[in-house]
Parts: sequence; structure tokens; C-alpha cells
Amino acid sequence: MTERTLVLVKPDGVKRGLVGEVISRIERKGLSLAAMDLRTVERSVAEEHYAEHKDKPFFGELVDFITSGPLVAMTVEGPRAISAFRQLAGGTDPVEKATPGTLRGDYALEVQFNLVHGSDSPESAERELKLWFGSL
Ligand code: CMP
Repeated sequence: MTERTLVLVKPDGVKRGLVGEVISRIERKGLSLAAMDLRTVERSVAEEHYAEHKDKPFFGELVDFITSGPLVAMTVEGPRAISAFRQLAGGTDPVEKATPGTLRGDYALEVQFNLVHGSDSPESAERELKLWFGSL
């Protein structure tokens, strides 16, 4: 089934020059880009994006970081795109969970600076794509 998912190359990935590497892995997997934009986000968008984490102790830091500089937002499309991209990304903790060969496993060390975001379910993808691109 063709799906769409929101992928973010977070500010750490943009600063480190890893946008091309992320796109390359997405394309090599067979997924395609349906939209892409380099932008620095407003706090209100970041807070809405991460609403499910609003009671976590790291919420403030997370919003500070994601708004700290330009990021690349993409709509990625393809068969089972949501789980396909999450596999490419690897687990949230780049050392304990992400395995070598994944984006986080290969390029990140800290959970806050874990390079990429991908929607975690069809419901999240719909909500996030509406927030970032105005439509699914
Ligand atoms: P992401 O997939 O974008 O979704 C939630 C984010 O919260 C996650 O990636 C991490 O970057 C971030 N996160 C999770 N745990 C922590 C933590 N302990 N400290 C800072 N950020 C965190």
C-alpha cells in the first residue's frame, strides 16, 4: 500500500552536511520525495509537532533544538513508507537502539541529536503532514 510519511533532517543533520546522505538512502531504498523544504520552524509548530512529549522533562530542550536552525522537511512516499523509513533511520537512541547500517547507527551518538525524524504511524503521518505541508 502506498503511504506518505513526514521525514525531517533535523538541524544537526543540516549543520553536518548530511542532507544528501539522508536523501540518497531514501531514494536507494526505492522511496520517493513528494515535497521538500528547507526551513527554520516557529516554536508553535515545534510544540505542536512534539505535543505528545509536552510533559517529558526534555520537552523544552527538544523544542529549543528543533527551532535552533534550518531543517529539511520532506514528504516521502512509497509502499509502506512509514515503516520503511523508520527502518532506514534506526532506533531513537543512536547507540543503544540504532544498529550500524542505519542513519542514526552510522551518524549519531546522542538521543537529542539523532539526525532524523520519521512519522511513527499512519495517524501521526497524517497529523504531521498537515502541520508541516498543509495536506497529506
Ligand atoms: P523523534 O523521533 O524526533 O521524536 C521525539 C524526539 O525526542 C526523539 O526523536 C529524540 O530526538 C527526542 N528525545 C527523546 N528522548 C530524549 C532525551 N532524553 N533528551 C532529549 N531529547 C530526547
